[in-house]
Amino acid sequence: MEYLRLARVTVGYRKGEPILSDFDLTVREGELVSLLGPSGCGKTTTLRTIAGFLFPWSGRVLLKDKDYTRVPPHRRNFGLVYQNYALFPHLSVFENVAFGLRMRRLPREEIRRRVEEALRLVSLEGLERRLPGQLSGGQRQRVALARALVIRPELLLLDEPLSNLDAKLRAGMRTELKRIQRELSVTAIYVTHDQSEAMALSDRVVLMRAGRIEQEGTPAELYFRPATPFAADFMGFTNRFDAVVEAREGGELVLRAGRVRLRVRGEDLAPGTEVTVAIRPSSLRLFPPGGEGIPGRVVSHAFQGESVQYVVETGLGELVVVHPESTPRFSPGDEVVARAAPDEVAVFPRKEDA
Ligand SMILES: Nc1ncnc2c1ncn2[C@@H]1O[C@H](COP(=O)(O)OP(=O)(O)O)[C@@H](O)[C@H]1O
Ligand SMILES: [Mg+2]
Repeated sequence: MEYLRLARVTVGYRKGEPILSDFDLTVREGELVSLLGPSGCGKTTTLRTIAGFLFPWSGRVLLKDKDYTRVPPHRRNFGLVYQNYALFPHLSVFENVAFGLRMRRLPREEIRRRVEEALRLVSLEGLERRLPGQLSGGQRQRVALARALVIRPELLLLDEPLSNLDAKLRAGMRTELKRIQRELSVTAIYVTHDQSEAMALSDRVVLMRAGRIEQEGTPAELYFRPATPFAADFMGFTNRFDAVVEAREGGELVLRAGRVRLRVRGEDLAPGTEVTVAIRPSSLRLFPPGGEGIPGRVVSHAFQGESVQYVVETGLGELVVVHPESTPRFSPGDEVVARAAPDEVAVFPRKEDA
């Protein structure tokens, strides 16, 4: 069911310079939706508009069909979590979490019960008396999450909440955030510029570019079927070259790029159409020379833990190839052929902007 809706919202910071224009967004009840996109594309602006810190110049914000467009932040029962935690440094963990409940003048006993419950949810029982300065970054972010959840928010808004944590902690917190969000069935909007974070957490991903929605869909839809060159690039289809559609055969297209022929999943493109081809490094495989594929020569290889990354020089430019292997099968100087599964190649008519 539709829960939150931004309807044709135009908003910005300076008159005449809108950041979002006619922006539409729908979030269903219980969903976790990520706003994903490069720095400066308007993710935080969107979140601030939802939270009520920015009022739309035009358009409307609706929650459960109630008009929230002009409702100030303190009258919205939303939980907010920021990158920098924003805890009160002089208040204990308990008082930080209790803050929203004291503001709402709840009875003492209920405050105690709900704070304890929230701290248990984020696995911080026992740390009630500590000050934020006596906690690790991960623990601080858990306090911030408990503080946002303890008010039983109608919406949970998270702005790059894991960006200040180191990589290992980030992966663990991701899983935990998802568990908590599921457990409470709280509707959540999660802002991130990290593609893999959005993929791992979200029911739906909204990819933004310069104040507009570039593409929205499930993580799998964006990951496997980027709709534009920008989306493809953002989803890691970093190998790119130009080609021309030579023929349509069965469900497939035959592309020609220089002297190379390539079969790809059938888009509805007529022979003669000029296209951009985009392929993820992990979708390419190297073979000894011969047969179909993109011929080239290995320039370098680098270990990446569970995989080896090759750079291969080809007639179509340098290709990056990532093989899941622990010892490189090819060495610099080796002649190879690169092939991609037809289903994993993204093809876009060239007229579209890059
Ligand atoms: N307080 C502000 N005053 C003026 N411009 C701002 C302000 N905050 C953000 N902007 C501008 O709005 C645009 C979108 O910013 P923001 O929503 O913060 O992007 P993101 O969160 O995706 O990185 C950027 O061009 C940014 O410079
Ligand atoms: Mg931001």
